[in-house]
Amino acid sequence: MCGVVGYTGKKPAAPWLLDGLATLEYRGYDSAGIQVISPSGNLHGVKCAGRVATLRERCDSANPVGTCGIGHTRWATHGAPTDKNAHPHTDCSGRIAVVHNGIIENFQELKRELMAAGHTFKSETDTEVIAHLVEDAWAGPAKGDLVAALRNACDRLEGAWAIACVCADVPNQIVVTRKSSPLVVCSTDEGAYVASDVMPLASVASSVLQLQDNDFALLSEDGRVEITNREGEKVEHPETITIDWDASAATLGGYSDFMAKEISEQPEAIERLLTNRLGEHGIEMDELSMSKEELASIDRIYIIACGTSYHVGLIAKSLIEKWAKIPVSCEYASEFNYSDVLVTPHTMCVIITQSGETADTLTAARRMKGMGSTVFAITNVLGSSAARESDGTLYIQAGPEVAVASTKAYTAQMAASVLLALRLAFANGSMSREEVERRYHELEAIPGLIREVLARRWQPRQAAKLFRDKHSALFLGRGVNSTTAYEGALKLKEISYLHAEAYPAGEMKHGPIALLEPGFPVVAIVPADSVHDKTVSNIQESIARGAVVLAVATDGDEAVAKLCQDVLWIPPVENEMLVPLVAVVHLQMLARFVARARGLDVDKPRNLAKSVTVE
Ligand code: AGP
Repeated sequence: MCGVVGYTGKKPAAPWLLDGLATLEYRGYDSAGIQVISPSGNLHGVKCAGRVATLRERCDSANPVGTCGIGHTRWATHGAPTDKNAHPHTDCSGRIAVVHNGIIENFQELKRELMAAGHTFKSETDTEVIAHLVEDAWAGPAKGDLVAALRNACDRLEGAWAIACVCADVPNQIVVTRKSSPLVVCSTDEGAYVASDVMPLASVASSVLQLQDNDFALLSEDGRVEITNREGEKVEHPETITIDWDASAATLGGYSDFMAKEISEQPEAIERLLTNRLGEHGIEMDELSMSKEELASIDRIYIIACGTSYHVGLIAKSLIEKWAKIPVSCEYASEFNYSDVLVTPHTMCVIITQSGETADTLTAARRMKGMGSTVFAITNVLGSSAARESDGTLYIQAGPEVAVASTKAYTAQMAASVLLALRLAFANGSMSREEVERRYHELEAIPGLIREVLARRWQPRQAAKLFRDKHSALFLGRGVNSTTAYEGALKLKEISYLHAEAYPAGEMKHGPIALLEPGFPVVAIVPADSVHDKTVSNIQESIARGAVVLAVATDGDEAVAKLCQDVLWIPPVENEMLVPLVAVVHLQMLARFVARARGLDVDKPRNLAKSVTVE
């Protein structure tokens, strides 16, 4: 949710800290700050509400000099996004500073206790208690040992954290630790680095070390990284993550924004995922780590996810039920965690999460594991918590997704779901090898069809004008494309702040139709499929009430063209179950054009963060 960085070494710290924070800004951008240890041995902090760009300007004039420092970009949980609540937070002496991602659940009780003991607090954050707890430990039992001081402080904490801590008395050291929030470190000739994820480190290292819960790492200016566990024992073989993509993959590369770049990367992402998948098991998916017999015995599946990934889950449910004939429940992770679950000895749980760090989804996965279910993850981020904690992981290999609004991960996760459904269908005998191959070849055609849609970007650009001066929109679709409607509406509201609601088209008459009035925008997904005519009837009902209908329809559909104000055309898709992979691309572009026409930052919509690591 928040981004954490740190560097100690030979180079000036501030430039890399600022660059690192800019890379991590997708995690939160309410406020930002850095704290550097100056050559005179004091902390020099610069922090402000707003974006990293504002922090950069502040640093230009404040000029924090030093070769050791920590930084933070914030998604506010406790306390408004103000200068004083921005991290880093310091102790009473101003010689200890911390940055933190996560939530300290018992901070109020700790704060009361610390204040009663004479500590003075400057912010409303939960994080500040950490600085004061380290202060007490440093002044007492842990004097001279920053690792011991932070360990001592963490013993008092409840909740989740990734923490980086510096102390001006040991001016070249950074101590970091984590519990339920990701943190990676690396050692280079120029110094040692820490970050919330690999992205900022891709420009300085080809591999990083993944800290486990309750590991502590001491980073020294000569580049050394010493990792110990909670008991103080050396961690001999920390998990290594190889960064297998170029740092340029996380740069704009000529595009005006990451969302545009990521929308355009969808065909290649799916092609990567499909490479070498056909084989003797129908679809080869060693990632499942399950035998054919185990797969064949699955009698119930829970798919658990949030947001856009939940929409993938809905499609996956349709695919698995249709092809593999296994009953599937698709659940919002945040709801699932407090509901009753029916786990049989052959229940499988599939979690879908781009970031692999979504707290609700991880909690659900742990719950399912605890009840004896096998957990399979579909994720994008290598070495993420979802991948590490699951029994098997299918990486969608979409490359870094930076824009907060998920696009390429959505379609790649959907393609992964198609593969999973085919694998299960073949394993339990619901589908013959020939049929699996046929479906696979239909999927193979999808990247080409997406390229055709991308080439028609002028259509959504023009259609975006229909939303000028509008405050609300209704998205309708049937069957698998009711999900396309949900995703289209989510994209629009997420980045354009226009209220958008989505319904299965047939449900409209049971309530949402009351919204319709002359000029009200309705987006109808009406491809050439088995429910086409029914959806056309719903379009007619909308038009009869004065709605302005924008359709997503298949090339050559004259009837829809005549009825609707405008049409976003998609090429014919052989299998109607795969239409969502193609149709959604128009809606992603539409949302982006509407948001840009409103002068909004499409990559960093207000109040949101890419990785939601709090429940
Ligand atoms: C997508 O556009 C959203 N920003 C959001 O709904 C996202 O899909 C959700 O938070 C789940 O994230 P995950 O896939 O990383 O778990």
